[in-house]
Amino acid sequence: MSILIKGGTVVNATGAVAADVLVDGEKIVALLAPGFPLQADETIDATGKYVIPGGIDGHTHMEMPFGGTFSADSFETGTIAAAWGGTTTIIDFAVQVKGTSLLSTLDKWHGKADGNCAIDYGFHMIVSDVNDTSLKEMESCVDAGVNTFKMFMAYPGVFYATDGEILRAMQKARETGSTIMMHAENGIAIDQLVAQALAQGRTDPVEHGLTRPAELEGEATSRAITLAKVTGSPLYIVHLSAAQALDAVTKARDTGQNVFAETCPQYLYLSLEDLAKPDFEGSKYVASPPLRPKEHQTELWRGLRTNDLSVVSTDHCPFCFKDQKELGRGDFSKIPNGMPGVEHRIDLLHQGVVKGEISLERWVEICSTTPARMFGLHPRKGVVTPGADADIVVYDPSATQVISAATHHMNVDYSAYEGMEITGKVDTVLSRGRVVVDAGGFHGAPGHGKFLSRELNQYLV
Ligand code: URP
Ligand code: ZN
Ligand code: ZN
Ligand code: ZN
Repeated sequence: MSILIKGGTVVNATGAVAADVLVDGEKIVALLAPGFPLQADETIDATGKYVIPGGIDGHTHMEMPFGGTFSADSFETGTIAAAWGGTTTIIDFAVQVKGTSLLSTLDKWHGKADGNCAIDYGFHMIVSDVNDTSLKEMESCVDAGVNTFKMFMAYPGVFYATDGEILRAMQKARETGSTIMMHAENGIAIDQLVAQALAQGRTDPVEHGLTRPAELEGEATSRAITLAKVTGSPLYIVHLSAAQALDAVTKARDTGQNVFAETCPQYLYLSLEDLAKPDFEGSKYVASPPLRPKEHQTELWRGLRTNDLSVVSTDHCPFCFKDQKELGRGDFSKIPNGMPGVEHRIDLLHQGVVKGEISLERWVEICSTTPARMFGLHPRKGVVTPGADADIVVYDPSATQVISAATHHMNVDYSAYEGMEITGKVDTVLSRGRVVVDAGGFHGAPGHGKFLSRELNQYLV
């Protein structure tokens, strides 16, 4: 089965060019001069549209256990929503429960995902129990294509790792060439602030933000960078939200240390004001780190331009407003942490192009090319070029749409961006040569998505 995508502008991180794209089977086989005479089984008209590599969302949580419940998207519903939004690869977090092994955790996550994903997927591993066995098992994870390990400086008693445990895992990361991903918030200090707030009767969702000050993200980020420096481990700061944390990352990168960071659309577009919405509406915006005062957004956009922030992932972790966020009414600390977003990352970041915050090429780089290289998928993914997987999005930059829970495909009863007007819209999506989304709807299938055994981080110096 061959497909010719005609008349579009192919946008890669390296530049934009008018070209037709020939797909044969699962692969891109040629970029052709516009109008090159060639017959294919199917033709897609991309006139006036961008032809970009499918999005790679390096941070999702499908069916994630948290706070006595599970995030609301399954691998099936979450990957279908991702496809609708132009994302053709997700990397989801397998979660080690204390007292269990990393390899059984990996099996468990394969059990949830295999045969159910509509797009390709890989895993990161959350290490919440550092001991001799799990450290040894990190080697087997790397061999199994999972070479990125998330650790938490937050959530004492659940996922939290001490500095000593982090140091030991980082030593193993250094030894295996893998990368430590860090949730950098000082959870010990935060827990005290949370207890004090509750003791004073401050129970509303906004307190989630007020008890997790930006300084404690900056401090933890600096500490993680220091531990990475001492051990020689690569470090990737996940869901960076605060200017103080960005400052620490920028300084480390200026010295040439292997430190990288991602931010998320919610930190670029939403703020503490959303957390402060009345009638428990603020609970929709509870995630950690919390939404920050608006001033931080300017710094984050700057970081995206300077590449001190290299990636935008969603941290998609949806909990329904009606029955899940509700668990924390009267006690903000019991609101399940996380927000939906896997469907809207490409559109939201395109607003950065529309507003002149980032270039067209940078948009593609942040959403696809850099995650492909960071997570060992390049050049199979992240670029429209012969030999790459035909994960392709035809994107209409002049179409408009309004984000709403009434029209989104995520399995969650609200949108964090309800009513937001977007310039640009996904037109057609190919996942390994199969048209999975077009004007006629969704044509993919759960089980089409394959597990991606990943190479090491390609940015390490
Ligand atoms: O609040 C969040 N971010 N929930 C998902 C888990 C995590 O820490 O990434
Ligand atoms: Zn986290
Ligand atoms: Zn997360
Ligand atoms: Zn169709």
